[in-house]
Amino acid sequence: MQDFLKDPSIFIGVQGKNIISFGSGQPDLAPPEQVFKILPEYRQFKYGLIQGQKNLRQALSKQYAGSNADNFVITNGASEALDLILRAIGKPGDKVLLHKPYYYSYPPLVEKNYLEPDYTEKIEGKIDIEDFEKKVKDCKIVIINSPSNPTGRIQEISTLKQIEKICKDLNITIISDEVYKDLIYERENYMMQGNHVVTINSFSKTFAMCGFRVGYLYSNDQSIVEKVIGLKTHTSMNTSIIAQEMAFEATKAPVEYQKKQLKIWKQRRDLIYNGLLELELELWKPEGAFYVLPKFPNPRKAVPELFKKHKVITYLGDWFGAPERIRLSYALEQEKIEEGLKRISAYLKNQP
Ligand SMILES: Cc1ncc(COP(=O)(O)O)c(C=O)c1O
Repeated sequence: MQDFLKDPSIFIGVQGKNIISFGSGQPDLAPPEQVFKILPEYRQFKYGLIQGQKNLRQALSKQYAGSNADNFVITNGASEALDLILRAIGKPGDKVLLHKPYYYSYPPLVEKNYLEPDYTEKIEGKIDIEDFEKKVKDCKIVIINSPSNPTGRIQEISTLKQIEKICKDLNITIISDEVYKDLIYERENYMMQGNHVVTINSFSKTFAMCGFRVGYLYSNDQSIVEKVIGLKTHTSMNTSIIAQEMAFEATKAPVEYQKKQLKIWKQRRDLIYNGLLELELELWKPEGAFYVLPKFPNPRKAVPELFKKHKVITYLGDWFGAPERIRLSYALEQEKIEEGLKRISAYLKNQP
């Protein structure tokens, strides 16, 4: 029997006639047109540099003041970057602080690398700096994710700067997962900074290139970069060179590309946020990314039933450390969001 409560793998990649998927966080919008233009001419096929193609690293270094191409490693998505960095800097038993609700892969990644997760609770999706300060003292690593999957909330710039300072004073490494840094509705973005910060990013979300699997890690500390390259040499080796070439083309996309996408995301955000409020669900207003995490009656019953009876995919809040909630990704067209909301409304009306 299918277990709809175990983990999201049961829903990832599931498509079908009449299914409305608020599940997987993958943009349905297209990548920049020019990424495909290289294909007819492209003929490279040999191993590439483990660290990543130099043209791509150079292009990325232009986005980070004071960096150079040597500070970057191109990875198989942000996912590989997260795994490699935890392995590179963590020692068995080290504590890693996560803010709850968290991206569902963080606890397994931490635990499978023989590290120990610890948690700080947020208030309305915002880090509670007092609790953070208390918990962080015992930790060697902190993972910050703003804008957040699954809440869509962003952390205040003042909070991010406080975290930078606290961690610097305590000699703690910050892994800043900024895969949604360009999908932010409420203010300009703030990228965490410092020699103790390792930035993780990806082409999956900003450029809608999830399946190409290109991400990266950036650190000013060259010893960290070397350790990561050392691990990658014996695991995945180079990231797909054709995908890197396509990512390089994406870095040349005009700013209008991102502006256009952001406008669409914001319209969808407003649609789903207001729609869920009309259903009288309690939720935090998303300020970035493309997720909402409403409180929902009996999520362990609702997630399988919404799928089996209404053909609506949602994710269990439990997977993100939020057992009273469900997560919805609004990476789908307006009409589908509207239809999905209707079905959720019908489900709720039938509850005792
Ligand atoms: C917060 C966060 N980090 C990392 C990832 C992994 O992204 P990638 O496709 O680049 O591996 C995701 C994907 O949903 C995410 O939400």
